[in-house]
Amino acid sequence: MHSMKNSGNTGKVRVFSGAQPSGDMHLGNYLGAFKNWARLQADHECIFCVVDLHAITLFQDPKILASQTREAAAAYIAAGVDPDRCILFNQSRVSGHAELAWIFNCVARVGWLGRMTQFKDKAGKNREKASVGLYIYPTLMAADILLYKASRVPVGADQKQHLELTRDIAQKFNNDFGVDFFPLVDPVITGEATRVMSLRDGNKKMSKSDPSEMSRINLTDDVDVIARKIQKARTDSGEIPDNVEGLKDRPEAANLIAIYAALSDQTRAQVCEDFGGRGFSNFKAALTELAVTVLGPITSEMKRLKDDPAYMDSILDAGAIKARELSEPVLREVRQIVGFLGV
Ligand code: TYM
Repeated sequence: MHSMKNSGNTGKVRVFSGAQPSGDMHLGNYLGAFKNWARLQADHECIFCVVDLHAITLFQDPKILASQTREAAAAYIAAGVDPDRCILFNQSRVSGHAELAWIFNCVARVGWLGRMTQFKDKAGKNREKASVGLYIYPTLMAADILLYKASRVPVGADQKQHLELTRDIAQKFNNDFGVDFFPLVDPVITGEATRVMSLRDGNKKMSKSDPSEMSRINLTDDVDVIARKIQKARTDSGEIPDNVEGLKDRPEAANLIAIYAALSDQTRAQVCEDFGGRGFSNFKAALTELAVTVLGPITSEMKRLKDDPAYMDSILDAGAIKARELSEPVLREVRQIVGFLGV
């Protein structure tokens, strides 16, 4: 009988997550993902991946992809991911991701992928010109997770639909082949800022691809830049409300309060209580101080790691070896289940 249990022997629940090395990592990545990754390490078996195969669904300059990959891994570590306690590697080093994704391409249905809002957003009006990879991107994401039979996946809110698809793929695979093999993953979407919005437009997600640098705080920004971006962040003309209901229909205010809450490990209600009745200039000064205190050490650690590519490569090399070891038995079983000869 093929078992659904993690193939590791640590007895801990296995976690998998990743981010694309397609530009600078930003505050949204930190609060929506990395911060929770660091927290989960304490009592989970964690695998964190720099998903370079995903990055090339949109063209990446080969001259900078390698340094962006190292930089992404540096951001994970600077944000608290400990390479001694988890597996940290870049996706293209373990070819099982691409192999399992192919099998999932034959399990997932065209209609399922057509409903993915991220594809619609990224492809925009010119769908015919989008890469095929961009369309089937979610089957690769399902493969990333299920190649290790990971069952918990910490992400920001924007990845929820992809994780629902991952569950659908796991379930259909199990049904089609009459096995109880892949687990149904649980999304872990926690914290007060699971969807950090642009500093220039409270209705738009903070994103690497926004052409405006002022829309996001990058994890490479120095203290002065962070301060300037917060000072210039868009607000409305009201005051800070003294309860969260007062944030309704005020997307910019809601975003800044959520950022403050997440950075200070408080609830939004507590932040509203503390700042209720004050103006934005007063609040922004406090937010700047908090952001600089929390992000300052992260940005400086990132800089230090970026200046040591040999060290970063050694971490990623060691991680790739461990990831390959964990994935091989799963892949072998999958090949058997599917009926491939010569397994
Ligand atoms: P990516 O590279 O877009 O983002 C990496 C992580 O950061 C989160 N995130 C945000 N959270 C809050 N607010 C924001 N504005 C914000 N922007 C990004 C994302 O939710 C994500 O958790 N498809 C994934 C990468 C991936 C993956 C996986 C994740 C590939 N395979 C397997 C988990 C498991 C992506 O493009 O993330």
